Amino acid sequence: MYRSHSCGDLRLADVNKEITLSGWVQKTRDKGFMIWVDLRDRYGITQLIFDEDRTPKEVVETAKTLGREFVIQIKGTVIERESKNPNIPTGDIEILVSELTILNEAIVPPFTIEDNTDGGEDIRMKYRYLDIRRNPVKNSLLFRHQVAMLVRNYLSTEGFVEVETPYLIKSTPEGARDFVVPSRMNEGQFYALPQSPQTFKQLLMVGGMDKYFQIVKCFRDEDLRADRQPEFTQIDCEMAFVEQEDILGIFENLTRHLLKEIKGVSIADFPRMTYDEAMRTYGNDKPDIRFGMKFGELNTLAQHKDFKVFNDAELVVGIAVPGGASYTRKEIDKLIDWVKRPQVGALGMVYAKCNEDGTYKSSVDKFYDQDDLAKWASTTGAKPGDLICVLSGQTNKVRAQLSALRMELAERLGLRNPEEFAPLWVVDFPLLEWDEDTERYHAMHHPFTSPKPEDIPLLDSKPGDVRANAYDLVLNGNEIGGGSIRIHDSETQALMFDHLGFTPEEAKEQFGFLMDAFQYGAPPHGGIAFGFDRLVAILGGQETIRDFIAFPKNNSGRDVMIDSPANIDTEQLKELHIKLDL
Ligand code: AMO
Repeated sequence: MYRSHSCGDLRLADVNKEITLSGWVQKTRDKGFMIWVDLRDRYGITQLIFDEDRTPKEVVETAKTLGREFVIQIKGTVIERESKNPNIPTGDIEILVSELTILNEAIVPPFTIEDNTDGGEDIRMKYRYLDIRRNPVKNSLLFRHQVAMLVRNYLSTEGFVEVETPYLIKSTPEGARDFVVPSRMNEGQFYALPQSPQTFKQLLMVGGMDKYFQIVKCFRDEDLRADRQPEFTQIDCEMAFVEQEDILGIFENLTRHLLKEIKGVSIADFPRMTYDEAMRTYGNDKPDIRFGMKFGELNTLAQHKDFKVFNDAELVVGIAVPGGASYTRKEIDKLIDWVKRPQVGALGMVYAKCNEDGTYKSSVDKFYDQDDLAKWASTTGAKPGDLICVLSGQTNKVRAQLSALRMELAERLGLRNPEEFAPLWVVDFPLLEWDEDTERYHAMHHPFTSPKPEDIPLLDSKPGDVRANAYDLVLNGNEIGGGSIRIHDSETQALMFDHLGFTPEEAKEQFGFLMDAFQYGAPPHGGIAFGFDRLVAILGGQETIRDFIAFPKNNSGRDVMIDSPANIDTEQLKELHIKLDL
């Protein structure tokens, strides 16, 4: 038996017990006549004491050889500590050691296994198994497990069945590139790893499973960001005989349940906003509604004067920055530089200070008088003491730029409190999205999303105006889930493929299996998928998902620990019928 207790178990009530512990040496303090060792495992730290007077001599000698991260087993007696440590649960006791076995020695780790380690990100990724010994990473993984269990139990109780779907599949168009796997047995052919189990979950509905879920890996070859990994996990769900309202209701309740259980937060109000309104008032389809700073469109107020920049703009739009009137000229210049950075891309920024005395001072006083500026203030909701920041230009670009500024300022002003949770449904997404590069429409969500019946007549005349039965779940400015009510008849699905530029032959080749299935009695159905990594990160008060994934990839999509992707040898290539022409 390696251990009778864990390193987090023992308390004053256990004094005088004979126990066995195993774990890693966190640190040793050798005072000559006495040696203390902090022994660590997943459950905590227990202090060991080796005392020349009370511990066998050879045990003390072995203790002197212990180094950091050695794996040891000890037997001993629980005793009360003289100087207690109130910072750890086992801080009232220590173990007077009588036997010590070194189970494994360790070379010196490349960084300290402490909450505040001296190791930088790169080195910690290379030695991720050591990083996982640290509390912050360990606790993130435990937290992830807790959320997964709550989700599984909740959905199972609600009648959802977890069904596994294959990883070696055929391309599903979810907007990103596929990772592909060559087939040895089928020369020249490839599997694709699923960007999501979308078509399979729909086929499960045709198969009568009624309520499906799966906590499942998805693979997308896309540019990486803090909230994106090439392989990530979804809580993927689908239901038959449902309308949008049913889906929103159930997953609103799941979100409520998680927030209550994990954060103790009760969400009374679960607001909804149309995509159109989100874009107009926040410039963004995933608005953070924990704070205001809503957009005020100023076209009619600002385009009647001689200011050419505004007159030529498709959109003139501003936000009020609380307390911003006190910014110095230098601070405002810095803000202007910030919006002009290539990552944001604004050409400039006009501002107006709303002085405490009710007067205004703007960077365009030449063109706009106090009355004009007062109207800007009322449209943007600016109060005395605030700063109005105005951007102008092409609508989509300006919205994105002002949205970036809004988020940046909110961050600087401390308005993005990670302990506050403001979920939001964004509904009525456009069905189609124009793609400048390919000069054609793409499905904004995916090609299986149903259009709103009343908008179907617009498919030919104004395709960009057709709304979908599609929704996103947004939490604190992050898209944590998205779904839709699906098309469930083969004619509408064929019509959709046609509008997406597929010939009937191409549609048949790629999705014939789905269109065939729809001919055998497909129930009306719909669903949603949560980004599990994102959900866990946000519940954990962070926005970087890497910290909540045991073995993540870096920004170049590499696993620096196992050094992948890597070359494969010629034999293997040959077997896969792949000729590399490098
Ligand atoms: P969607 O593409 O919106 O929908 O994905 C669902 C959710 O998955 C998360 N997500 C990601 N998380 C981490 N890294 C990534 N690269 C990444 N990409 C997406 C997001 C997103 O909201 N099949 C549909 C769902 C459906 O219609 O039911 C789908 O995959 O949080």
